[in-house]
Amino acid sequence: MSAEPSAPEVRLDGRVAIVTGSGRSLGRAYAIALAAAGASVVVNDVDADSAARTVADITAAGGAATAVVAAVGTAEAAEALVQAALSEFGRLDVLIANAGVLRDRVLWKMSDDDFDAVITTHLRGSFTCGRAAAIALREQDQGGRIVLIGSPAGQFGSFGQTNYAAAKAGLVAMARTWSLELARAGITANAVIPTALSPMTATIPAYTQVYEDFVAGKGIPESYRRDHALGSPEDVAPLIVWLASELSGDVTGQALGIGGDRLTLYSHPDVLATADSDGGWSAAQIDEAWRERFAPLAQRSGPPASD
Ligand SMILES: NC(=O)c1ccc[n+]([C@@H]2O[C@H](COP(=O)([O-])OP(=O)(O)OC[C@H]3O[C@@H](n4cnc5c(N)ncnc54)[C@H](O)[C@@H]3O)[C@@H](O)[C@H]2O)c1
Repeated sequence: MSAEPSAPEVRLDGRVAIVTGSGRSLGRAYAIALAAAGASVVVNDVDADSAARTVADITAAGGAATAVVAAVGTAEAAEALVQAALSEFGRLDVLIANAGVLRDRVLWKMSDDDFDAVITTHLRGSFTCGRAAAIALREQDQGGRIVLIGSPAGQFGSFGQTNYAAAKAGLVAMARTWSLELARAGITANAVIPTALSPMTATIPAYTQVYEDFVAGKGIPESYRRDHALGSPEDVAPLIVWLASELSGDVTGQALGIGGDRLTLYSHPDVLATADSDGGWSAAQIDEAWRERFAPLAQRSGPPASD
């Protein structure tokens, strides 16, 4: 289905959003799109220069933004972001928890530092920012939007990404949990599973050349935009704008993917089959049940083959 060209523009005037890791790539595209739709944006990055560039570009285009340079992961950084929204713009409506790093290694080579760096930024960063935002939004008592950024790695597992896959799967579980806990306050919590060409994707050998061509201005082949759901960071931003808006007030606890030309709704983890045995199961009975009933239904790990 193609997008309806005459659909009305989605506006966010008067809303205030925090976007972590918005100095470059996807986070930058989210901050710029939110500001273009009328939101005031707290731009955050650990890199001061890139955060300043995003703010400068937003203000040059007539938008409102302020930078908070901090490494998300601590309660202090989360608090500083929320305080900046309240002191600079007077309120908070939207949190986009996007900041992240990769430390890819196969399990037997992954160090504690590799594991902790990724868990701290993605999972603890989203938890601390989500908690600080939830406190402010509940106090404000006008609803709100929390968007956590997942990954296909968290949905399917990913070779060499123990830390990242665990953090990203955890984020989706957090969003689903918060959708329950924050429903009464009118605060939605969703996970976005983006795919886009960025320095992060460039580290995947299969996409290195496509990324280099994209950066060189050679465009993105149609097959990548559709079958690999891989486009520019700007292709992902409309989903963030929609989730930040009034229109998505009844959407919560969902994992939605977007990249290139493709929008995706992910399933919740579900029961595929059950079997009962009077008085419980022996190991031998489990083996029999596995082979006869469960094995044909078992799903593979790893990303789905592109169609
Ligand atoms: N690019 C993709 O296809 C893709 C796919 C799935 C998920 N994601 C997720 O989207 C998000 C953005 O990815 P990207 O491709 O734009 O990555 P990127 O590496 O290009 O940008 C990440 C930004 O976050 C900043 N950052 C890192 N650690 C930080 C911290 N502790 N505090 C504040 N800022 C920090 C970096 O300086 C950088 O500006 C990440 O959460 C990533 O896991 C990306």
